[in-house]
Amino acid sequence: AGGFALSANASSKSGSNSSDALAFDKDAYTELTTTITDADGTDHEVVYHFWKAITYVTNPVDEAYQSLNVSVPVKIDGTAVDATNAPIVFANSVGGYMPSSVADATGVGGASMSGGPTGGTGTSASPSASASASSGTGEVQSGGNAMVNAQGGMVNLGKLGLAAGYVVVEPGARGRTLKDSDGTYYGTAPAAIVDLKAAVRYVRANKGVIPGDTDRIVSTGTSAGGALSSLLGASGDSPIYDSYLKELGAADASDAIFATGAWCPITDLEHADGAYEWNWGTNVTASTGKVVDQTVSKDLQSQFAEYQASLKLRGLNGFGQLNARNYDEYMVKQYLEPSATTYLADLSDADRTAYLAANTFIDWDGEKATFTWADFLTHVGARKKTTPAFDAFDLSAGENNEFGAGTTETRHFTAYGAKNDTTGLTTKRVASDIPEKLDLMNPMYHFAKKNPGRSKHWWIRLGTKDSDTSLTVSANIAAAADNLGDDVNHLYYWDEGHGSNIDPADFLTWIAKVTG
Ligand code: DHB
Repeated sequence: AGGFALSANASSKSGSNSSDALAFDKDAYTELTTTITDADGTDHEVVYHFWKAITYVTNPVDEAYQSLNVSVPVKIDGTAVDATNAPIVFANSVGGYMPSSVADATGVGGASMSGGPTGGTGTSASPSASASASSGTGEVQSGGNAMVNAQGGMVNLGKLGLAAGYVVVEPGARGRTLKDSDGTYYGTAPAAIVDLKAAVRYVRANKGVIPGDTDRIVSTGTSAGGALSSLLGASGDSPIYDSYLKELGAADASDAIFATGAWCPITDLEHADGAYEWNWGTNVTASTGKVVDQTVSKDLQSQFAEYQASLKLRGLNGFGQLNARNYDEYMVKQYLEPSATTYLADLSDADRTAYLAANTFIDWDGEKATFTWADFLTHVGARKKTTPAFDAFDLSAGENNEFGAGTTETRHFTAYGAKNDTTGLTTKRVASDIPEKLDLMNPMYHFAKKNPGRSKHWWIRLGTKDSDTSLTVSANIAAAADNLGDDVNHLYYWDEGHGSNIDPADFLTWIAKVTG
């Protein structure tokens, strides 16, 4: 099957992209050969065409970040592959809301990113410390989505997607630490999501020229990248980004995506402090060995109760309306017990016996694990963050930098954070532009609006020992999508921590299923 002709009616919004600057040059590739170990551990020789560092807007602020790479398989294990109409895996490599670039990659899966799932984005490191650390080599990782499998090996969905026969688009995006010579921050909110949307628009505008099915774009990302992936999915074609996209000279095309993959999304940031205390409020903090200020923790927990009630979300599988009093039961029944059950069922008899002997809080009837929420929290142990986990009173959290603007590196983005500010904020209030920025960054905003352009297929994963955010954050995304009638596949990885991806083969199978 040949490609499509780029015609004015190819897509309702793509016809008016007359800018040659955003035309995909289909001949400008290099042919590369690489060996990729698939998700089952089998090596494949993949011959592919690689397009490098294509600037995806006509008016870039920083091309090092606002560019994308395209990889298209042509031969796998000696057999010719035609990916002309294959689904497109749109794999961002954002971590920690930091800048991510593909410009120096020498092949698929070679993005460099700063921070990220194993990088320093904790509340103890100041944003400037993170920024300077990231300019050294220490935190820069290669390999795109820095996810780890159960054995601690790297999982790269770009590479795995290519070996599975998909077209892989890897976009760079601006991130929070970028600062120009005048001291202006140009990668803080909403830069990263605007860039990813611009990259999707570029792909769509080149429908029929760029290999792959532009109506089957499947987005992936981990942590902050998972947040952005879920936001990309929820916000498809939302007009609230139009002015930002116009300013960059983004292609005039749809930025809706077909399916969303999100691992441990760190999102719903303005409600994350309350959710975090509801979840981990009584656990000691890893860095101090102590419980956090319980007055602050309780204040934040009551904010979560109010917020969760306001969402009016119903749990999956007929569970009633979720609230702060029943979410523990929901979490245990819907996610945690099934997660432990799968884990235990997959162990050898000897390993299962040993695990159960070491974890007597679990009741195992031979088929199913049961336990209480309180025992689960004890089992997880120390929490990663202090309080508030995201809008730190001293502006030391990475998210304070994400909501910086102009020459101001860090700002509060919650009323509670601003009110309790310890840095000399005289107004004790958030800046007037913050509410709009929060909407631009929050998938829950778009679910509440029932955004018709959202992705209708959701793959969401989170480790049960991940205390980078509350376990409710991804469960709320899942419930919101489900309640609107979308197809949701959400499960928790037992005893896995932040950045984990232990079922990539299942994800690739899921892509085939939902796009088929
Ligand atoms: C990431 C981790 C965090 O704890 C956070 O607050 C934001 C982002 C990350 O790994 O991307």
